[in-house]
Order: sequence, then C-alpha cells, then structure tokens
Amino acid sequence: MKSSLFKSSYLFIILFLFSFSNISFSKETNVELLKPSWSFDGFFGKFDRASLQRGYQVYKEVCASCHSMKQLSYRNLGEQGGPEFTEAEVKAIASQYEVLDGPNAEGEMFTRKGKPSDKFKSPYLNENASRAANGGAYPPDMSVLVKARPGGSDYIYSLLMGYEEKVPDNIKLEDGVYYNKYMPGNKIRMAKPLSEGSVSYTDGTKATQEQLSKDVVAFLTWAAEPHLEARKKLGFKSVVYLLILTILVYFVKKKIWLRVEPKV
Ligand code: HEC
Repeated sequence: MKSSLFKSSYLFIILFLFSFSNISFSKETNVELLKPSWSFDGFFGKFDRASLQRGYQVYKEVCASCHSMKQLSYRNLGEQGGPEFTEAEVKAIASQYEVLDGPNAEGEMFTRKGKPSDKFKSPYLNENASRAANGGAYPPDMSVLVKARPGGSDYIYSLLMGYEEKVPDNIKLEDGVYYNKYMPGNKIRMAKPLSEGSVSYTDGTKATQEQLSKDVVAFLTWAAEPHLEARKKLGFKSVVYLLILTILVYFVKKKIWLRVEPKV
C-alpha cells in the first residue's frame, strides 16, 4: 500500500518537472535560441531589482530613441515586483521629460514637466513619423513585446546578441538592412543597438554586450508581465496546498476502505 503512494508521488514529480522543460526555437530561422539563466525563470523565479534598474537605464538611454513603451507610466517603475525605484527617484525620472498637456483656460495646449502618473513619452508623434525616421521600418512598441514574440525573453536576448560581421554568401543586404542570426528571414532594419560600453552603469557592473542585453530584456520582461512574481508565489502556494490535500485524501481513503477485504 505504502509503495503506491510513493509511486504516485514520483509520477507527480516527473510530470511536474516535464512541465518546465521548454526548448524554444526561433520560429522561421530554426536556429536554437540563446538561453541565458534568468533569475525570473522557474518555479521560484524572481526579478533581480538591480538588473531591472539597469535595464531601465539601457532602455532609456538606447532603445527609447526609437521604441515607445506606451502602456507604462513612470509610477510603474516604483511598484512592487518591478524595478522598485523610490518615490523620489520616480519623480526625478518623470520630471526629466517635457509633456504636452492642456488645453488651459485659454484653450491652448502647453508643455509641463512630467509627473509619475504620465505615460512613458514616445520618441515619435505617431507611427508614420517613426517609419519616416527609420527608413520605412517600424520599431515596435515595447510594452508587451516579450509576450508578442515566440521565444519571448530568450528571443529578444538572442536578437540583441545575434548581429554578426560575417554575412552568409546567400544573403544580400540592401542599404540600412543588417544580418541577424535570429531574426525571421535573417534581415533586420535595426542597426546593432548594443555593444560593450553603450551605457555606463553607476553600480560598478561591467557593461558588456551580454550584460546590457540581459538587463534590458529583464526590464522588458517585467514590463510585459508586471505581476510575474505574485503569480509565481500563488502557484507555489497552490501546489503546496494540493500536495497536502492529496496526502490527506489518501489517508481518508485508506481509513474508509480499512475493513473491506481485498478481492484476490
Ligand atoms: C535607431 C533606432 C532603433 C534603436 C535605437 C533600437 N531599435 Fe529596435 N528596432 C528598430 C527598428 C526600425 C525595428 C524594426 C526592424 C524590422 O522590422 O526590420 C526594430 C525592431 C526591434 C525588435 C523586433 C524584432 C522582431 O522580431 O520584429 C526588437 C526586439 C528590438 N528592436 C529591440 C531593441 C532594443 C532592446 C533596443 C535597445 C537596446 C533597440 N531595439 C533599439 C529601431 C531601433
């Protein structure tokens, strides 16, 4: 009798582990994606605050000149489970931006300093303007980009690391088009945005291309899934609950069937 409990719990554990194995491939290129170890992966995953803060810096200093993040407000940067900047830091970040507001009593629009409740300022007024500035290509909004691309965080990390000097002979690149190992079709109209030292970190972390890419992708992952930590915590609690329930139910069943003679 005892062994059957063990057997079923083994089965449970094996099924449990299987649900975590996820090998992902870039969709059309069929190249296996790079998979750095993410602090937010796995059952007990959590964001690394310092990495999220550095990631915001990378976004702000590099990506934000082309990519918007329209769904985020500056105050989100101070929320629990995110980069958790202090209230004063969030205010200081927001106030670096000039925001169009109005109309005032005279019916005129005016500009003012940004407030934490303002949405992230977009680099362009609209999609046409952003296409015009990028040779017809549209830099997608990054609010939920990690969710929108197959492969998610791994894909975006791979893309940032996937620029190669040596272009395969069968690929012809037009002006303003770059070779990228992980982009579907291998051609991308975004120049390599990150290389060693693109951003200077103030916390002493070495700004290698890997580190910059990892940090910005962690930041983008949080933006796309701000409640990831809460979700994982709840998941853990539910599994513990179910485990205890399973054990109790097993003993209840044993007790109920105690006096029934087994059929042989
Ligand atoms: C000079 C402008 C510019 C900068 C700076 C820039 N991008 Fe882009 N990005 C683009 C354009 C244009 C596209 C569209 C490319 C295409 O469709 O071929 C793009 C596309 C992308 C894509 C989508 C690829 C896909 O699967 O469609 C990702 C991811 C991306 N950029 C990440 C970043 C990150 C992260 C940064 C900052 C580290 C960044 N970009 C900085 C212009 C830029």
